[in-house]
Amino acid sequence: METIVNLSEKLNNRVFEIISEAADELQVECYVIGGFVRDIFLKRPSKDIDIVTVGRGIELAKIVAKKLGKNTRVAVFKNFGTAQIHLKKIDLEFVGARRESYQRDSRKPMVEDGSLEDDQKRRDFTINALAICLNKDRYGELADPFGGLEDMRNMLLRTPLNPDITFSDDPLRMMRAIRFACQLDFDMVPEAFEAIERNKERISIISGERIADELNKMMKSRKPSIGFRLLDACGLLDIILPEIAALKGVEMKERVGHKDNFQHTLEVLDRLADQSDNVWLRWAALFHDIGKPASKRWDDKAGWTFHNHNFIGEKMIPGIFRRMRFPMNERMKYVQKMVGLHMRPIVLSEEIVTDSAVRRLLFDAGDDIDDLMMLCEADITSKNKEKVRRFLENFQLVRQKLREIEQKDRIRNMQPPVSGELIMETFGLKPCKEVGLLKSAIKDAILDGVIPNEFEAAFAFMLERAKKMGLKPIDVGDAANR
Ligand code: CTP
Repeated sequence: METIVNLSEKLNNRVFEIISEAADELQVECYVIGGFVRDIFLKRPSKDIDIVTVGRGIELAKIVAKKLGKNTRVAVFKNFGTAQIHLKKIDLEFVGARRESYQRDSRKPMVEDGSLEDDQKRRDFTINALAICLNKDRYGELADPFGGLEDMRNMLLRTPLNPDITFSDDPLRMMRAIRFACQLDFDMVPEAFEAIERNKERISIISGERIADELNKMMKSRKPSIGFRLLDACGLLDIILPEIAALKGVEMKERVGHKDNFQHTLEVLDRLADQSDNVWLRWAALFHDIGKPASKRWDDKAGWTFHNHNFIGEKMIPGIFRRMRFPMNERMKYVQKMVGLHMRPIVLSEEIVTDSAVRRLLFDAGDDIDDLMMLCEADITSKNKEKVRRFLENFQLVRQKLREIEQKDRIRNMQPPVSGELIMETFGLKPCKEVGLLKSAIKDAILDGVIPNEFEAAFAFMLERAKKMGLKPIDVGDAANR
């Protein structure tokens, strides 16, 4: 005989007793289901609580709200047959059990009532179909008709129904499967994986936002490469991130190969993820070499080269962000900046580290310099231990120089000490080429250490340079005192 698992001691929020009372009053079967139950087993705190009833979900929500106090509001979504109550620390969602396809976000309401089991089998994975009864006589009892508990113990992702049906009901679930595998370190059963291979093209009906949401959850995982390797293995990567799929493979010429940039990228990503939770820096790690396929050339002397791949990569970012519905704001600019600058500290560390090169790097990276250094250190994936040691040592040197120069010259957030307006006023000019030339000459002089980062010196330098250009100040004393 099957043993009954009772989890009542895990329902340690008073709200469950209130729902229990209300369900018994209304005489409906009532369960907590889905992610909340899964997360009890995973020991992850969860604030979203999904309640499923056999009929009358909305009515139950209204009674629960009344019992919670008169200020509690219920949001009813009649079309979807759901009701929500938002409390301080938790969000409750009530829904009647459904028989037909479970389609979230669908315009078509699915209203056919069903039993608890009908509802469970229309969910994505057995571990997400576990339900705990809230009615008093079976309070805390686990309802698990599809072996979710067993799969939880074996860390397996399995669909309750034939996976072809589960995934075609909602193709986003293919992404969810890979995301859960990555986030929870679970394995997909082979049937589920094969079904993704078969159904992968259906992902095209899912919006960019929802795909991006799953990718971001993957990206926040301890080891994001797991997700990207799975996406590649099942063929989804080619569809949703072709720029990353294009990094795969090694080309040989005259028995010389280059490294497999896909493997390298994933290694960089994991190394970076060990150091930083910043999800945008993680995206930058994933994208840092996307310019390589387009820039790859064979050179008889140098072998394989990827000149300017950083700039090409930087230019590719907006297109990807637009397609993925990622924010096209300062976050995108940050990723672009990281991709564009990712070669600089490496080049710097290979040469004699001059003050002026360090100043230029500080000026271009600004406050993101530490993130850039972190990315560059993660980028050293050579198998040659000696080479790695040398690089990291040089990086220490670069970091030290960065600190020294920043303390001395305050370049990090440098605003040129002489503004364009002041240049125009001094020489009675309208916006023109000369103003830009003077501005950048001043900036270069500071970065090259010709003059200190100070107003007096910069103003004097400007006058001298302007003279060479044949410009005369209209009233030096007045303008300099402003
Ligand atoms: N669900 C589903 N198919 C989907 C999305 C959700 O079957 N495409 C079901 C699952 O039973 C899931 C529940 O709805 O557990 C709640 O979904 P959601 O809140 O989106 O996700 P969680 O599983 O709670 O996981 P997470 O919060 O990590 O996204």
